[in-house]
Amino acid sequence: MKFFLTIILLSSTFVLAEPITPIPTNIENIDKNKVKLGSKLFFDPILSKDGTVSCATCHDLNAGGVDGLQFSIGIDGKVGDINSPTVFNAVYNFTQFWNGRARNLQEQAVGPIENHIEMGNTFENLIATLSNTPYKKDFEKIYSDGITKNNITDALAEFGKTLITPNAPFDKYLKGDEYALTKSQKEGYELFKSHGCIACHHGINIGGNLYAKFGVMKDVKSKSLGRYEVTKNELDKYYFKVPTLRNIELTSPYLHDGRITELEEVVKFMSHFQLGKTLTDSDISKIVDFLKSLTGELIRYDQ
Ligand code: HEC
Ligand code: HEC
Repeated sequence: MKFFLTIILLSSTFVLAEPITPIPTNIENIDKNKVKLGSKLFFDPILSKDGTVSCATCHDLNAGGVDGLQFSIGIDGKVGDINSPTVFNAVYNFTQFWNGRARNLQEQAVGPIENHIEMGNTFENLIATLSNTPYKKDFEKIYSDGITKNNITDALAEFGKTLITPNAPFDKYLKGDEYALTKSQKEGYELFKSHGCIACHHGINIGGNLYAKFGVMKDVKSKSLGRYEVTKNELDKYYFKVPTLRNIELTSPYLHDGRITELEEVVKFMSHFQLGKTLTDSDISKIVDFLKSLTGELIRYDQ
């Protein structure tokens, strides 16, 4: 009897609790000096082999943390084959990259520096370059072992942790401000839940905490094999990390291959391929209205 009661109580808390939680408005436990150094590195093209490409080239903090392109352009005008995700709130993702090949921001930061179509550098070369600049002192002030691969990526990750976007209208609504959303946005949120989008897009990042098949109800053509690239497990073919929907209004084009530019179209696409449903135009437009309530504010901790 006691057992059953607990189950009932537990399940009722689940029903009452919202499946999405707000972004905190302040960050604790960050090292300010590392954040400043990481920020300097983030904006500095010195990280790339030929000094032309910075992290900010592909992750513009004034434009949703993305480059707005279908595929990013790295050194020597080399074009990639996967869409640049936003750096905003990436700290909340359970893994980094579309296929989850990096476990955290520090592991992630190694990728673009060495990637031959992004920054095309080596850490050996980068450490040598930085050692002839005022960066030498900056590093020595913070790290007893000076400029190392670990310390470069540690500083970048520390800055990355601060790139969160609190105070979205939807977060204000979650905290009890009934007026933060329009009627259509509230209805859109209810539809987002009742149609089943919430099954994959939930948690603090409204995504970023599980892998899901790209094309659950119907097969979709995709050149990238997703999670399979990491695990080589047949069952992981076409599985991708469910992306965050925070600031989604700012991060077109959409999907891992940037094939869609309009938010309406990507909602239709999701309904069709992920849920096997055809939604009415009215439902789509309300869901889009709801998605537009997910745009937050960037508070700078690096100044
Ligand atoms: C040439 C463009 C380019 C440059 C330069 C670049 N990135 Fe990226 N970034 C991308 C692309 C494209 C992806 C997705 C790659 C993938 O998933 O395979 C990505 C992924 C990420 C992610 C993972 C986000 C997520 O949701 O999985 C983070 C964090 C990130 N980059 C931060 C950085 C940092 C820090 C730097 C500088 C050290 C940097 N990027 C440099 C294009 C770029
Ligand atoms: C079965 C899991 C699942 C369901 C259900 C689902 N999605 Fe997704 N969603 C994903 C995955 C996985 C991706 C990334 C696909 C890719 O590009 O490979 C994605 C991508 C998106 C994107 C593009 C994000 C970006 O940054 O490119 C939007 C917007 C989106 N979904 C909204 C929705 C909406 C609205 C619904 C409900 C109508 C929905 N999703 C239902 C898993 C799901």
